[in-house]
Amino acid sequence: MTDVVGTRAELAAARAALPGTVAVVMTMGALHEGHAMLLREARKSADHLLATVFVNPLQFGPNEDFTRYPRTFEADLAVCEREGVDVLFAPTPEVMYPHGDSEVTVHPGPLGEVLEGAVRPGHFAGVLTVVCKLLRLTGADLAFFGEKDYQQLTLIRAMVRDLELDVEIVGVPTVRELDGLALSSRNRYLDDAQRETALALSRALRAGAAQRGAAAVLAAARAELAGLEVDYLALRGADLSEDPGAGPARLLVAARVGTTRLIDNIPVHLDAPHPRES
Ligand code: PAF
Repeated sequence: MTDVVGTRAELAAARAALPGTVAVVMTMGALHEGHAMLLREARKSADHLLATVFVNPLQFGPNEDFTRYPRTFEADLAVCEREGVDVLFAPTPEVMYPHGDSEVTVHPGPLGEVLEGAVRPGHFAGVLTVVCKLLRLTGADLAFFGEKDYQQLTLIRAMVRDLELDVEIVGVPTVRELDGLALSSRNRYLDDAQRETALALSRALRAGAAQRGAAAVLAAARAELAGLEVDYLALRGADLSEDPGAGPARLLVAARVGTTRLIDNIPVHLDAPHPRES
């Protein structure tokens, strides 16, 4: 039975009643199989499982989908019950931001200004601020985030490292439909034709990952994206450093299909250049 709490006092009391280690999965609701996978992984790693559902206004820009973002609380609760969530914290904006808009936010640094950050100014400050607050409020020992939002995951790891927060961050691989589409709460905005078009993103990533040199990876991916409104296609280091170098790297893409913005990424491996080629 999942205990649903909405206030800070209720959360504190519910948290105090959980002995041993606690893992948290933070979400904005509209839970799908990707979230269920996060909950399952988290459940295996700790004595107790806490989840949060909060559509965080601070991470949405003025022209983004905050008001139309899907809110499906009853279905989310059913997923939490099924996956063995002990406590579900579902606060209102007034509970999360009792003093109104945050005057102090977590600055994401230079990585917050590129890729998603370049298209969505202020987004990562909003994400890091709410994640930091939820880590404090839940007192979790471990926190699980999907690799689908790879830049978010990388920035959360950097925040935890640089601000010396006492929590272990665990990344969980992206869950995909059989045809490759990465699961996302925003997929429900797509009609059938748009969903078909959206498959180009995962196709591009797979085509890129099948190549070896950086130029070949990018060229193969770009070829699959022809005709799409692409915000970026980028090859970066596994830590999102600008120079992917050799070895493990990450290929990332963002594109618009109709009015829906989709992102995806994949690990790639870049061979070291042959000594005579460098
Ligand atoms: O990935 C998300 O759903 C959100 O960015 C998060 C981490 C729950 C913060 O609002």
